[in-house]
Amino acid sequence: MSFFITFEGIEGSGKSTQIQALRQQLEARGHRVLATREPGGCPIADAIRAILLDSANRVLVPRAELLLYAAARAQHIEEVVRPALAAGTIVLCDRFADATTAYQGGGRRLDAGLVGELNAIASSGLLPDLTLLFDMPVALGLSRARQRNQQEMLHDEGRFEMEELDFHERVRAAYLALAGQESRFRIVDSTGSVEQVAARVTAVVDAFLTRGEQP
Ligand code: TMP
Repeated sequence: MSFFITFEGIEGSGKSTQIQALRQQLEARGHRVLATREPGGCPIADAIRAILLDSANRVLVPRAELLLYAAARAQHIEEVVRPALAAGTIVLCDRFADATTAYQGGGRRLDAGLVGELNAIASSGLLPDLTLLFDMPVALGLSRARQRNQQEMLHDEGRFEMEELDFHERVRAAYLALAGQESRFRIVDSTGSVEQVAARVTAVVDAFLTRGEQP
């Protein structure tokens, strides 16, 4: 059984922690699972990620940023995601094309048509079966993300966290708009403890898998 499940949300919304917990849970139930992320997931896309997130790259222009996300995605899909799906794996992906719509479209205000075209080229027809949107107030997410970066000394991953509050509000609004348009979305309230959010994730994914497994 192969499913492509993506996880989206603003900075600090807790996606990555929840993906690891879900991966363990699904593996314990006998599923074959791959957890991966964008940008990244394979060496070429990881090299692109380093350019995209390096806080020293302030001069990177929005169109170049858009193209780099698309390039990383094209590589990741062909090298990692499609082969895993073909082998009957459940692929859990930390961000996908919706992040481009939310960040480059909503946040950077790039033309929606241009972003849509680039997403179509990069994704080459691959659509998630299910997308969990981790939603919380922007101020709370940003304070969590900054705390995490300090604790983990992730100084090179801060380019987006330096953006003003307004940018992240636009990202959140774009995500919520997408969730209202696409039936594959489920909004997960990501306020509360890790355990509380994990219980919400389990409920959503169980409901999806039960439905998906029906003949
Ligand atoms: P992460 O912090 O969840 O690993 O994501 C990396 C950053 O890249 C995050 O700030 C969101 C941003 N991003 C985009 O702007 N566009 C995209 O298409 C993707 C996948 C991520």
